[in-house]
Amino acid sequence: MSRDDSIAILGGTGDQGLGLALRFAVAGRPVAIGSRVLERAVTAAKNVGEQVPGAEVEGFENAEATARAPIVILSVPFEHTASTVKGIRERLEPGQIVVSMGVPLATAVGDAASRMVGVWQGSCAELVASLVPKGVQVVSAFQNVSAHRLQSLEGAVDCDVVVSGAAEARRRVMELCPLVPGLRAVDGGPLANARIVEGLTALLIGLNIRYKVSAGIGLRFTGLPE
Ligand SMILES: NC(=O)c1ccc[n+]([C@@H]2O[C@H](COP(=O)([O-])OP(=O)(O)OC[C@H]3O[C@@H](n4cnc5c(N)ncnc54)[C@H](OP(=O)(O)O)[C@@H]3O)[C@@H](O)[C@H]2O)c1
Repeated sequence: MSRDDSIAILGGTGDQGLGLALRFAVAGRPVAIGSRVLERAVTAAKNVGEQVPGAEVEGFENAEATARAPIVILSVPFEHTASTVKGIRERLEPGQIVVSMGVPLATAVGDAASRMVGVWQGSCAELVASLVPKGVQVVSAFQNVSAHRLQSLEGAVDCDVVVSGAAEARRRVMELCPLVPGLRAVDGGPLANARIVEGLTALLIGLNIRYKVSAGIGLRFTGLPE
């Protein structure tokens, strides 16, 4: 697998990455699931294949998955973002797009998931952008989408996805959103707006707790033209 329409998901063994892998597989896109441990990636790919008959999904170590798709989604906890990017950056080629989905939740320092920690670069996405080789674009997306809703294949996800980054790379990631029923891409402009979008996830987590919505509350912008 190394096709133009392939999507790699590093940390695709976890809740959010597996949810995206399932949804992209349902949409007929080849998916390379990455893990630090090959067997975990292979098991996750098998899981997707069992739920989505005919799915083109394979498991690889993270660096190998990176080399197998033009779009690479980072799906590891914020505190492991830098080490994960450093571990794969030699496999990144100019023209590839890295999607940052991480949120600097305060759980990284043992505090609550409804709070954030500061990031020197401004956001997780800008941290990633500071680490990738020249010619690799970083786009921020999917931070406000619930893993539970992604994994519940019988339902639509019902959430807007604010996509931020350089224009052409942003457009390509926006095209991924409607592959998942209920996701709508919203043009989020430059990457620095990830600072705002990442913070919304901490707010959503707090709302989930206060309103007791274990499946996850989503986000909708009103008044956008069709
Ligand atoms: N869960 C949600 O509802 C949700 C919603 C929006 C955004 N997000 C974002 O999506 C990302 C993934 O979230 P998640 O809930 O799926 O996380 P998770 O299940 O806790 O972890 C995802 C994967 O990260 C890898 N990982 C764990 N420790 C690591 C380490 N020390 N170094 C490198 N990789 C490590 C693991 O993969 P291997 O052990 O296979 O390597 C794990 O399966 C996060 O940045 C989160 O902020 C999550």
